Amino acid sequence: MNNKGMLKENSLNGKTIVVTGGGSGLGKSMSEYLLSLGANIVITSRREDLLKKVANNMMKEFGGKVLPITCDVRNPDLVSKVIDESYSEFKKVDCLLNNAAGNFISPTERLSTRAFDAVIDIVLKGTINFSLLLGKKWIKQKEPGNILNIVTTYAWTGSGYVVPSACAKAGVLSLTRSLAVEWAKYNIRSNAIAPGPFPTKGAWERLLPGDLKDKFDPSKKVPLKRVGEHHELANLAAYLVSDFSSYINGEVITIDGGEWLKGAGQFNNLERVSDEMWDFFSMIRKKK
Ligand code: HXC
Ligand code: NAP
Repeated sequence: MNNKGMLKENSLNGKTIVVTGGGSGLGKSMSEYLLSLGANIVITSRREDLLKKVANNMMKEFGGKVLPITCDVRNPDLVSKVIDESYSEFKKVDCLLNNAAGNFISPTERLSTRAFDAVIDIVLKGTINFSLLLGKKWIKQKEPGNILNIVTTYAWTGSGYVVPSACAKAGVLSLTRSLAVEWAKYNIRSNAIAPGPFPTKGAWERLLPGDLKDKFDPSKKVPLKRVGEHHELANLAAYLVSDFSSYINGEVITIDGGEWLKGAGQFNNLERVSDEMWDFFSMIRKKK
């Protein structure tokens, strides 16, 4: 993965980065690359065994220090514990990467209110818990900070069939932009990445269950005609957590091969018109 890394070696030396959901999927891939660039990494999620195993494997492969801490982002006490343990291990935290999420597909009318809670509490409240508790500490201790949130492109378009997630990610995007302005005076930056389709077990099993992945091949919706590769996202995340991006604040950067714009442009589906049809249209035009 990191053999396609963009930043110079040691670009993140001395930085400590907390990655929620860092034990699997995109959180793990981003953590690996940030570690390989010299950062200390704290990975958190609910699965203790997985976290420990992943942390050990990462340290074996990339060197450096990875601290695994079990935490449900919905529980502010556990979030405080992650922050305290990170400070006692590394003396400071430079960056918070809010990546943990919960999601599933369903017609909205089939959902219970608790189903909405499950997703909104992880995605929106979990991001708020970490941002607020760490942000307060940064402000009190007069330390600079950097918050990077992982959203999705439907944070601004909305999307059927994932409505709790769409509502929650829209909230995270609003949090990103609001804090970017309010906390800039404390030297705390806040940005977001909106990924398009990047294959992970967590997302694919929940969003494309059964044979849906064959029926709705996500790469077909992407103008570049492929899904994303984890190192492409990891490179963008590394840039945004680094000091190279120090003047970027309040931005959401889309990395989706053009997917959401394809859905938005009114005439984009004319790509289905064949060359012969275009020839035919131009013949009609010439006759007139
Ligand atoms: C309808 C469902 C459901 C489903 C759960 N619920 N799954 N309703 N369809 N598929 C309902 C339950 O019936 C229950 O309501 C309530 O939600 C809580 O369910 P629990 O199983 O108790 O929740 P919990 O154990 O907290 O698990 C949270 C979870 C789960 C979100 C439901 O999927 C999870 O842990 N996910 C974590 C990882 C994840 O989702 N990764 C994918 C991220 S991908 P009742 O009323 O019955 O009690 C992503 C991609 C975005 O975000 C963009 C892609 C392009
Ligand atoms: P994933 O592997 O399922 O990642 C979700 C992570 O969140 C897991 O590590 C999970 O760990 C953790 N998590 C879930 N609930 C938690 C909770 N209550 N407390 C603490 N941690 C929790 O899926 P992914 O695809 O890598 O998703 C990563 C991020 O990318 C998410 O924000 C997602 O919305 C975003 N995204 C993904 C895609 C894509 O195509 N993959 C597209 C757009 C956006 P535990 O289960 O161990 O707690």
